Amino acid sequence: MSATSRNRPTTARDLRARKGGDPIVCLTAYTTPVAKLLDPHCDLLLVGDSVGIVLYGLASTLAVTLDMMINHGAAVMRGAEHACVIVDLPFGTYQESREAAFRTAARVMAETGCAGVKLEGGAEMAETVAFLVERGIPVLGHVGLKPQSVHGHGGYHAQGRIASEVERIFRDAEAISEAGAFALVLEGTVEPVARAVTERAAAPVIGIGASPACDGQILVTDDMIGLFSDFTAKFVKRYAEVGGIIDEAARAYAADVRARRFPGPEHCYGAGPETKRKAV
Ligand code: KIV
Repeated sequence: MSATSRNRPTTARDLRARKGGDPIVCLTAYTTPVAKLLDPHCDLLLVGDSVGIVLYGLASTLAVTLDMMINHGAAVMRGAEHACVIVDLPFGTYQESREAAFRTAARVMAETGCAGVKLEGGAEMAETVAFLVERGIPVLGHVGLKPQSVHGHGGYHAQGRIASEVERIFRDAEAISEAGAFALVLEGTVEPVARAVTERAAAPVIGIGASPACDGQILVTDDMIGLFSDFTAKFVKRYAEVGGIIDEAARAYAADVRARRFPGPEHCYGAGPETKRKAV
């Protein structure tokens, strides 16, 4: 099944069945209009907590709130017809206990209508993932570089260059896959390790800065279209320069307003029969 051949929303179960098959196409979305544009091309739309950095100008994802995720999740759901919409659980709303994770995930599912949630973490979160999955909540795992653990990682470094990291990534991917996650995001992981994780994991592995061998790929849309350019990770490929288009449009608009070329007669409302008498 590809993004173009569906006549119903894609489910987490559909994506789980894609292990080793056609690559799974995923992008982030935070708003209704962008979701509408991406939906025909994507299998999965992630309402990522990257929203905090990309739309709100935060330095990391740590200050993103549950209300932010729910509002953006509901907005994306209004724009998506075909893609499987997954919403990130923000930092601090699920790590404390599996019960806390269930309450957070249930609220996200009920208030957005999304198809599942994503949470970051490895072996230490496996029990929580199983708890959610057993209670009907599809979970997308996230291992390798985990942005919510940026302070633990000591920065946004590629993972898997030293033996202890390689072992941890294998252990984490296996634990989350076996706990029942329908797929795993594998972020910022050196290519041979990402390739081996994909070969070993039973669940599809969706790479970001990982390997072309992954079962799917995801990018932050604003990076991919050149709208967010505060920094660009090595793994981002720019498919458009939307930032430049907005800059040009704003420049042309400003020049038109200053020269009184805008608005033109075609942008003004015509008079009614009584307007002239009353207005002049
Ligand atoms: O928050 C996000 O957008 C993500 C992707 C980068 C996978 O987690």
